Amino acid sequence: MKHSSVSALPATGVAPTLLISGATGTVGTQLARRLAAQGVPFRALVRDVNSAPAMALQQLPGAELVTGDLNDPASVGRALVGMKRAFLLTPSSAQAEAQQVAFVEQAQLAGVQHVVKLSQWAAEAESPVRFLRYHAVVEAAIRASGLAYTFLRPNLFMQGLLAFQGTIAAQGQFFAPVGEARISVVDVRDIAAAAAAALTETGHENRTYDLTGPQALTHADMACALALATDRPVTFLDVPPAAMRGALLGLGMDPWMAEGLVEDYAHYHRGEAATVAPGVQQATGRAPRSFASFARDYAPAFGAPAPVVAL
Ligand SMILES: NC(=O)c1ccc[n+]([C@@H]2O[C@H](COP(=O)([O-])OP(=O)(O)OC[C@H]3O[C@@H](n4cnc5c(N)ncnc54)[C@H](OP(=O)(O)O)[C@@H]3O)[C@@H](O)[C@H]2O)c1
Repeated sequence: MKHSSVSALPATGVAPTLLISGATGTVGTQLARRLAAQGVPFRALVRDVNSAPAMALQQLPGAELVTGDLNDPASVGRALVGMKRAFLLTPSSAQAEAQQVAFVEQAQLAGVQHVVKLSQWAAEAESPVRFLRYHAVVEAAIRASGLAYTFLRPNLFMQGLLAFQGTIAAQGQFFAPVGEARISVVDVRDIAAAAAAALTETGHENRTYDLTGPQALTHADMACALALATDRPVTFLDVPPAAMRGALLGLGMDPWMAEGLVEDYAHYHRGEAATVAPGVQQATGRAPRSFASFARDYAPAFGAPAPVVAL
C-alpha cells in the first residue's frame, strides 16, 4: 500500500489546518489558487505528486502536498490528521458515493470539525439523475455525522464548455441534448470563491448554498456570447440523447458516467435548472460572474488556431 507523504512546511511557514481533495481538478485548481492568493496555507490530497497538475500546485505559496487515494480510506485518514476543515470533492463515478462516505468517516476519526462538500444543484435522494442521488446520500451522511458542514450545490459549470474547445475553435460548433432549455450556469471561479469562504471564515456552518450565475441562458444564448467574445461564428446544435451517449462512449467514457451525463442533460432539458439563486452572493458577498465575462476571459481558449503562413 502506498503511504502518504507530507511535503516540507509550506512556503508561508505556517502549518495548514485545512485539506482540499480534488485539488488538481477543475474546481480544486481554482480553489487552491484562491487560497494561495489569500495567504491561507492548505494541504492538498493528490494521487501522484509528480503529475503536471500536482507539480503546478506545489509551486503555490502555502501548498503542502500529501499523497493519498480516495479508494484507500486509510491514506485519506493519514492525510486528514491535524486538519480542522476539509473540502470534499470527487469526480462523479460509480465509486463516488463510497469514496465520499468513507472520507466523512475518516474526517470524523481524525477530529476534523467542518466539511465543505462540493455537491450539485438539485441533489435529491429520489432524483432520476444518478449524480443527484449520490450527492444526496453523501449530504445525509455528513448531516448524520454531526460534523459542521457547508454544502455547495453548483449548477452546470460554464467551464464545462471547455470540453468543446476543439470543435468550437475548429468548426464553430458545440452540441448537447438540451433543446431551448434555460440553465443558470455558474463560473467555476465563483464556486471556488464560495468554497474558500466556507473553509476560511466562520458563519458558513450548516449552510447549503445553491450556486448559479446571474442569468438563466439557453445554449444558443451561450453560443451568441462566445461568438461575440471570439469575433467568430459559433452555433449550438441540439442533438438527441442517443447521439450524446454514442459520442461519449465513442470517446471511451465509462458507461456509468456516460449514462449519468445523459440523465443530467435530460434534467436540464426539463427546465429543472433554470432558477437563478443567490448562493454566490450569500457565500462570498459578491455577485456571480456573467456568462459574457466568462466568454471574454476564456476567448483565447475558444479562438481559431493561428493561421498557417505559406512560405
Ligand atoms: N461539471 C459540472 O457542470 C458540475 C456541476 C455541478 C456539480 N458538479 C460536481 O463537480 C464534481 C467534479 O468536480 P471537478 O469538475 O472539479 O472534477 P475534476 O476536474 O474531474 O477533478 C477531479 C479531481 O479528483 C481527483 N481524483 C480523482 N480520483 C481520485 C482518487 N481516486 N483519489 C484521489 N483523488 C482523485 C483528481 O485527481 P487526479 O489529478 O489524480 O486525476 C482531480 O483532482 C462532481 O462531484 C460533480 O458532480 C459538476
